[in-house]
Amino acid sequence: MAKVTIVGAGNVGATAAHIIASKNLADVVMVDVAEGLPQGKALDMMHMRSVEKFTVSVSGSNDYEATAGSDIVVITAGIARKPGMTREDLLGVNAGIMRSVIDQAIKYSPEAVYICVTNPLDVMTYLAYQESGLPAKRLMGMGGVLDSSRLSFAVCEKLGCDPADVRAWAVGAHGEGMVCWPRLTTVAGQSIVDLLSPEEVDEVVARCVKGGAEVVAHLKTGSAYYAPGASIAKMVEAILTDSDEILSVCAHLDGQYGIDDLYMNVPVRLGKGGVEEVVEFELTDEELADLQRSADSVRKGLDALPAKSE
Ligand code: LAC
Repeated sequence: MAKVTIVGAGNVGATAAHIIASKNLADVVMVDVAEGLPQGKALDMMHMRSVEKFTVSVSGSNDYEATAGSDIVVITAGIARKPGMTREDLLGVNAGIMRSVIDQAIKYSPEAVYICVTNPLDVMTYLAYQESGLPAKRLMGMGGVLDSSRLSFAVCEKLGCDPADVRAWAVGAHGEGMVCWPRLTTVAGQSIVDLLSPEEVDEVVARCVKGGAEVVAHLKTGSAYYAPGASIAKMVEAILTDSDEILSVCAHLDGQYGIDDLYMNVPVRLGKGGVEEVVEFELTDEELADLQRSADSVRKGLDALPAKSE
């Protein structure tokens, strides 16, 4: 049975663990610094086994030893945003957490595929890449699946269509510089630019870009976790089943789309080895310019990254 470690047993980590277990995809180990939290949530999920009829195990620990030999390590540890905060506001605190987590996790699972979820996502994923020395193929971030799912939701709300018919693309920074591709977003094969007026397209895009903040404004005490948890599980499933599915994933670019040495959401073919390929779609000049502007917003975040304190 495959093994998936989830670092951070907060709402996002625990929701991902729940969905991975419910789908019987892998044994799950949750790790957290808070004593009792991962153990308690894991036991609660184990109590659910006979109800949901899964056979994988879920366990919790405060110690990375329990994570040894994982196939996938998902890093959700870090603070979440509160109302009025952007994802970028979390930079300083979360950078320290990310450095410490990746150092410890890699000792026990040097061969795993790593999925970073901590915000600001693109910067944290690049930081984990630098800190770990992992090949780019085995280190990615979860942002684009979530953003695309929000775009898909907004399209369904507008058109009243079946979510299964929608293929939506949100790419670029998982933050203020997010980019949507309406021309490439389709409902049963038809582009939404042919189904909606330009004003409606703008509304749908705005609903996607502000989707995370909309949830934060309702919750007041934290940020979204159901859709993020499901998006993590989707990527874990694609990797474990070697599905070759093409999803929007925060991957390392080395020249694709004219962007070099940066992590950002782009279409990626996922499989057993992690990022099997960054897929380069045929873009208009405007779409390409939008993506490159988004890359600049990620670079700004990287420039603001505090240096490692020794
Ligand atoms: C969001 C946070 C988790 O988009 O980045 O909801």
